Amino acid sequence: MHIELSDEQRLLQDSVRQFAEEVVRPRAKEIDESGEFPRQFFAQAGELGLAGVTVPERYGGAGMDPLSYSIVIEEISRVCASSGVILSVNNSLVCDPILKFGTEEQKEAFLEPLAAGETLGCFALTEPEAGSDPAAIRTTAVRDGDDYILTGNKVFITSGTDADVAIVFATVDRELRHKGITAFIVPADTPGYSHGSHEYKLGVNASGTTELAFAEMRIPVSQRLGEEGAGFKVAMSALDGGRLGIASQAVGIAQGAFEEALEYSAQREQFGRPIGEFQAIQFYLADMSTEIDAARLLTWKAAWAKGSGRRFSLEAAQAKLFASEMAQRVTSKALQIHGGYGYIREYNVERYFRDARIAEIYEGTSEIQKMVISNWVLQNT
Ligand code: CAA
Repeated sequence: MHIELSDEQRLLQDSVRQFAEEVVRPRAKEIDESGEFPRQFFAQAGELGLAGVTVPERYGGAGMDPLSYSIVIEEISRVCASSGVILSVNNSLVCDPILKFGTEEQKEAFLEPLAAGETLGCFALTEPEAGSDPAAIRTTAVRDGDDYILTGNKVFITSGTDADVAIVFATVDRELRHKGITAFIVPADTPGYSHGSHEYKLGVNASGTTELAFAEMRIPVSQRLGEEGAGFKVAMSALDGGRLGIASQAVGIAQGAFEEALEYSAQREQFGRPIGEFQAIQFYLADMSTEIDAARLLTWKAAWAKGSGRRFSLEAAQAKLFASEMAQRVTSKALQIHGGYGYIREYNVERYFRDARIAEIYEGTSEIQKMVISNWVLQNT
């Protein structure tokens, strides 16, 4: 494992940072307040290859490695966590499973426009009664000749308000639990497909979270992703990549908050000198920078493990667990350094503090990550 970035990765980091500063930062505060979905940002990100970072160029992507993907999500999230999660979901929960499990026809029809940022994807797994336990989903898929009829409801779907395509998980037999789950690629204009209104949340407010409803949608067998009954593994392996994305998002949020705190501590004067000259503040900054680096290293390790081609559930869960909890601590300290100013909307730090909270919840709560880690550790010792 190399912990130095290659020249190509540094170049990517610089160009994504520039894009984030010039295009994403100016609207980050406004879209957090309005909840407007940043569709234009997504199209521009697609033109730069950021919608399908690891997808080979022949399928419309940038053909880069998972560490490059992590760098992209960190840099975007450093200025706007909503934009970070929209990209993360499109890359790892939509493009990745189509690349890994899709047929050539599915890659041509769906992956190419998704990876190019021409269409936007969402991942429809969670249901009102099935969050941490997705094997309990109730959306049904009933075979009817060359089609399946899908009926059910999904909740908390990131980008659900604006997605053109959804990866939908349904069960062909609830009694079979995870062995009945089957994945489908479903265009949002399919008759019977509808989405709810934008959920107003504590943070990542522009990420278009909503409900989806499927009323007897007729989906051809050619849009089934993987074998019948193999959908749980499609979901879980996509979520391994998704957790790498959320770990990268959490590192980006923490880095953004840290930079705000560093700047503020040099400007704000109390007792006749900048507060950054007090050891109490310096020790906060020392802890924050150490924790961010530790989380980034775990995240890069997960990216490296993904790049090796083997299953990397352990590394992804460890990175997401640590990075999301680290982002809580770091954004809280950044707010504390700002004192009362940190608590008002004028300063970005309260947005970072709110945005960090979801990283411990979506794509598997911290408690689920601990289940994945402990299962792995217990089975391999
Ligand atoms: N890759 C490949 N296969 C996997 C796998 C992985 N990462 N994880 C499990 N599997 C396989 C297992 O090997 C097993 O296979 P066999 O049947 O051949 O033995 C099968 O799947 C079942 O595995 P488990 O018995 O471990 O499954 P479980 O029901 O106990 O669940 C769990 C394990 C880790 C708790 C899992 O349910 C889980 O991750 N839950 C959290 C779900 C989640 O993250 N939801 C987030 C929703 S998406 C979201 O938030 C998106 C968004 O919009 C931002």
